[in-house]
Formats: sequence, C-alpha cells, structure tokens
Amino acid sequence: MKFVRFIMKNASLASVPKHIEHFSKFSPSPLSMKQFLDFGSINACEKTSFAFLRQELPVRLSNIMKEINLLPNRLLTTASVQTVQSWYIQSLMEILEFLDKNPDDFKVLGEFVDALVTIRNRHNDVVPTMAQGIIEYKEAFPQDLVTNQNIQYFLDRFYMSRISIRMLINQHTLIFDGTLNPVHPNTIGSIDPQCEVGDVVQDAFHSAKMLCDQYYLRSPDLILQEMCSKKKKKNLPMSIVYVPSHLYHMLFELFKNAMRATIETHDKSNTLPPIQVRVSLGDEDMSIKVSDKGGGVPFRRIENLFSYMFSTAPAPQIGEHTRPPLAGFGYGLPISRLYAQYFQGDLQLYSMEGHGTDAVIYLKALSTDSIERLPVYNKTTLKNYKVSQEVDDWCIPSKEPLDLSICKENRY
Ligand SMILES: Nc1ncnc2c1ncn2[C@@H]1O[C@H](COP(=O)(O)OP(=O)(O)O)[C@@H](O)[C@H]1O
Ligand SMILES: [Mg+2]
Repeated sequence: MKFVRFIMKNASLASVPKHIEHFSKFSPSPLSMKQFLDFGSINACEKTSFAFLRQELPVRLSNIMKEINLLPNRLLTTASVQTVQSWYIQSLMEILEFLDKNPDDFKVLGEFVDALVTIRNRHNDVVPTMAQGIIEYKEAFPQDLVTNQNIQYFLDRFYMSRISIRMLINQHTLIFDGTLNPVHPNTIGSIDPQCEVGDVVQDAFHSAKMLCDQYYLRSPDLILQEMCSKKKKKNLPMSIVYVPSHLYHMLFELFKNAMRATIETHDKSNTLPPIQVRVSLGDEDMSIKVSDKGGGVPFRRIENLFSYMFSTAPAPQIGEHTRPPLAGFGYGLPISRLYAQYFQGDLQLYSMEGHGTDAVIYLKALSTDSIERLPVYNKTTLKNYKVSQEVDDWCIPSKEPLDLSICKENRY
C-alpha cells in the first residue's frame, strides 16, 4: 500500500510542471471589495465560492511559481527557497485534487475547507524562510545592481501574491465554517464593512507602546486627530470598508519605527515628543499620516528602506533574541507598503533629516475603488527580469575636484 502511494505521489509530482504551465496561462481575476462582500453576504453560496477557488487558487499559485523559476539560479537553489518552492508545489497538488469533485457533495465542501486550512498553515513561515534564502545568497555571492533590482521586483510580486492567496483562503474558511465572529459579529470574513480607523490606530499604538515600554522602559504618547471635509463632518468616527488586520499590521509597523526613532533621538531628554496621527477622509482617499520627531532619515536612504536586499543587513538569525524587539528583518516597511497597495492604496515616507518623519498610508475611500492589485506572469514580466545593466546617461561626478589652477596659469 505504501509503495502504491509512493508511486502515485511521484506520478502526480511529475505532472506538476504541466499543471503550472496550464494554469499560468490564465490571468488571475482581481476581486473588488464589493465582490468579497457579496461572497460573504446572507445568500452566500459555498458551492460558488468553492468552484471559483479551485480554479483561481491554482491560477494565482501557478502565475507566481513561473516567476520563482526566473530567480538567479544561485538563489533558487538555496535550501530555503527550495523549501518554499516545495510548499507551493504541495499546495497546488492538494487543490488540484478537488478539480473533479462534486460541489453538491457536503463532504467535499468540508474537505475543501480543511485542505485550505492546512495550506494556510503550511505557508505561515514563507516570509522568514524566503528572507533566510536572501541572506544566504547575499553572504555567498557579490551582488550587482541588476540582481538586486530583480530580487526586489520578484519579492514585491511574490509577497503580494501571497497576501492575495491568504485573503481568498481566509474569506472562504471564515465565512463557511458556520460560526459568527464573537468579537466583531458584523465582519464578513476578515472584512469589516465599517472599519473604524481611529480604533485600529489606538489598538496598534497600544501594542507598539507595550513593546516599546518593555524594551526602553519609556514610550512616546499619541495625539490622534480625525479630520474630514465639511459635508462629511457628521460621519465621525470615520470608517471605511477594509480588512482591519491589514490596517493594524501597517500601523503597528509604522508606530514601532516612529517610537524607536523618537526614543533613540531623545535619549538624553526627560520628555519625549508625542507621535501625531492625522486621519483624513476625502471623496477619493482615506489618508493616515503618522508623524514623529525622531530625527528623520537622509533623503538618499529613503528608497533603500523599502528594499529587501539592503534592509536585511546585518543578517538577523531566526529566533535571535539580541535584536531590539521593535525592529526585525527590516521587512516592516516593504511588506506594509504591499498591504496598502493590495487594495490600490500606497504607503510613502516623507522625511526631514534632523527633524522627523511623516509616513502616510493612502487607502481608497470607496469600496468600489478597492480592487485587488495582482501580479500576472506574461511576456512583460519575462522582459523585466531580463533587463541588462545599461550605461547610465547621466554624468558621474568625479570624486576629485577639477584642478582649475592649471587653467588659470595658462590664462595669465
Ligand atoms: N520613522 C522613522 N524614523 C527614522 N528611521 C526610520 C523610520 N522608519 C523607518 N526607519 C528606518 O528604516 C529602517 C527599516 O524599517 P523597517 O522596514 O520597519 O525595518 P526594521 O524596523 O525591522 O529595521 C529602520 O531600521 C530605520 O532605520
Ligand atoms: Mg520596523
């Protein structure tokens, strides 16, 4: 029996490239916030969601698996990236088993939910494992600009794909496990149709403050202002249709950074300048600005703060306890920006070196504008990985100043 299972497993493993080839030919279908809500409304149909996911999940998985194969070989063959790749293959195979199953069978629907939970758990550690692969690669090989750009391009797309796959899995498993969320009965899966931004700000600030107190024995205060245009004044407290856990994630990261910068800049002073948060709701945007007086960052470094390659140095080890708990792999900013971009928003940093930093989260105010932003594997993708290092057409300033005296001597 064991032998038969072994043969079967190998046979299905052998067919994986064929499946990836097939499903990567389809483009992922981005869902709008409204579609997510419809899937979870009173007349939500588990069968429809099942039928959609057993096609869409393989499409999203296969699209990104094609891109994993475009990574530099020396990165692709690290133990960590191989592990991540094997998780993707395993999960793809598990979903494909449902392709020929009957959606009218209750048992099948139950098994599907269980399979999704298993897959979600399997992929829990994708981010640190991938980060470990990047560290191994960085330590072993000298980097060049093109490889750095490719890895940045890949990881942004890879983590975005992962956020989207987890969103689909969470919605299906939360909505169809038959229970209500006891704390937030109005949520639809992980979406809150009336997500009160001020509350999430307070929650995230509170958690960051606790960490900060533990580490530095002090922490800055919060000043929160909610502002909206006159015609919207009645609508306070401000709310949008959003995934509170995504917003919490972004704010928690921004607060940890702001607190650390504030304390390290004011370590000699008895008082700490507060962190100021302004929330503003317009017709199009919901903007959240987190301002600190933590000394800021030089303009030249801003883009690097979002880089997976730069910010992982010095290499932290998984489980290492010596690093401040307020900072981690250096993935706080890039991953938070992806969460903001996932529903067509953004996250930007404006800093004044010597003074402080403003971090702004932009979200779509209207749920009809909140549509998933998904990577798709196509010819352009391939071209983007193949860009060669071309000669810059801007002059590179010489390090040595020109000796103008020679010229002078000649003239006089
Ligand atoms: N508000 C801020 N003020 C000053 N420096 C900041 C601020 N936010 C981020 N940084 C810098 O950007 C780096 C990267 O931040 P992040 O991506 O959150 O990773 P980590 O906090 O794990 O290092 C930080 O280590 C810090 O040097
Ligand atoms: Mg951080």
